Amino acid sequence: MNGSAKQFDGDPDMPLLWYLRDTLDMTGTKFGCGMGHCGSCHVDSKATRACVTPMKGAEGKNILTIEGLSTNGDYSVQQVWKTCNVAQCGYCQPGQIVQAAALLKEKPKPSDSRGS
Ligand code: FES
Repeated sequence: MNGSAKQFDGDPDMPLLWYLRDTLDMTGTKFGCGMGHCGSCHVDSKATRACVTPMKGAEGKNILTIEGLSTNGDYSVQQVWKTCNVAQCGYCQPGQIVQAAALLKEKPKPSDSRGS
């Protein structure tokens, strides 16, 4: 979890999102739809949706949350978010930032053109 090993011996079917929010008190990852549609709960470099990822599916994986991108909000995507006044209500912003970080990890110079 954000570079730190964690132990879990609870219900293997419990959603990862509950573990983050209720057990670890990491509330940056949000509950939105709870069905894997909205993206408020994105984590890690593949933008996994934590609301539909059971704990057994997270075993042995490196999970990156919004808290792991930066402790003080100076991650490049967060800075652009601030500069461009992206946030509206702000609720889904952590999920969108983690999604953008995942895109930039896979494609450092993305473009609007399709298929490249
Ligand atoms: S809460 Fe909507 S995708 Fe997870």
